[in-house]
Amino acid sequence: MSDSAIRHFLDLDTFEPSLLRAMVEDGKTMKLDPTGGDKPLVGKTLAMIFEKPSTRTRVSFEVGMKQLGGDVVVLNGGDLQFGHGETIADTARVLSRYVDCIMMRTYEVEKIQEMSQYATVPVINGLTDSTHPCQLLADVMAYEEHRGPIAGKIVAWSGDGNNMAASWIHASVKFGFELRIACPAELAPDPAILDWARKAGGKVTLLHDAEAAVTDADCVVTDTWVSMGDDDTNRHNMLAPFRVDETLMAKSKSDAVFMHCLPAHRGEEMTDAVIDGPQSIVWDEAENRLHSQKAILAWCMGAREF
Ligand code: CP
Repeated sequence: MSDSAIRHFLDLDTFEPSLLRAMVEDGKTMKLDPTGGDKPLVGKTLAMIFEKPSTRTRVSFEVGMKQLGGDVVVLNGGDLQFGHGETIADTARVLSRYVDCIMMRTYEVEKIQEMSQYATVPVINGLTDSTHPCQLLADVMAYEEHRGPIAGKIVAWSGDGNNMAASWIHASVKFGFELRIACPAELAPDPAILDWARKAGGKVTLLHDAEAAVTDADCVVTDTWVSMGDDDTNRHNMLAPFRVDETLMAKSKSDAVFMHCLPAHRGEEMTDAVIDGPQSIVWDEAENRLHSQKAILAWCMGAREF
């Protein structure tokens, strides 16, 4: 069974704000020195399990491990025995005998919870249907590189209340910014997460009007309308009023930034003019996956004490 001293990186809501802040700051340091100072992960191996497709997560974790001196093993979920009858618990026990850390991208959050319960090495959440915590450290870092501290700012989410929206809710509480979520009522975030944010003293508002959410915001965020594994029936009709176009973007502050975790579906959740426009910081956001995840890896494997 899991040892509570193991440094899993599962979801932002379980972390002290100071630890998340330290990881973002270390990501900034990693960006200046890609080796992490002295290649602190020499001799360490990361197993990466993908049950869903990935470009950014896969490449940034692999390159990050190698820059820190370590190595990776990439495992496609369908090729593993746990797709053919072996339990996740047994997979966790066995992988823990070979590698120093496990990063998993999967569908149900319960799978990653089971992996972390039985692994004797750290487990990193590389996205589930519920959340995407690694992305948020990169997002906070990107915002702050362009506009300074995110605390006290207004972030507007316009689109599907999906796993990214859930992690933005967690981040809003932990990093101290206001979050306005505009989405169709049918695609609202899990009420339990909104309830958690309220009880934690967060400033999170659920709206169904994109213009109201975006007006005077410091940052406008959206995501794909059809997340991996979703049925797209009727989603496009429901989400069309939440598309981020130049007219919507113009309601935000004049120095607001546009963010998107990618992959983007141009012409759907945002227009070309927005993602390619002067307010877009999406490429820095994508790059920062590399730097911020190196901070996560170093902390998980004991190479950093925050
Ligand atoms: N943003 C993100 O996680 O990208 P990938 O799906 O390409 O990994």
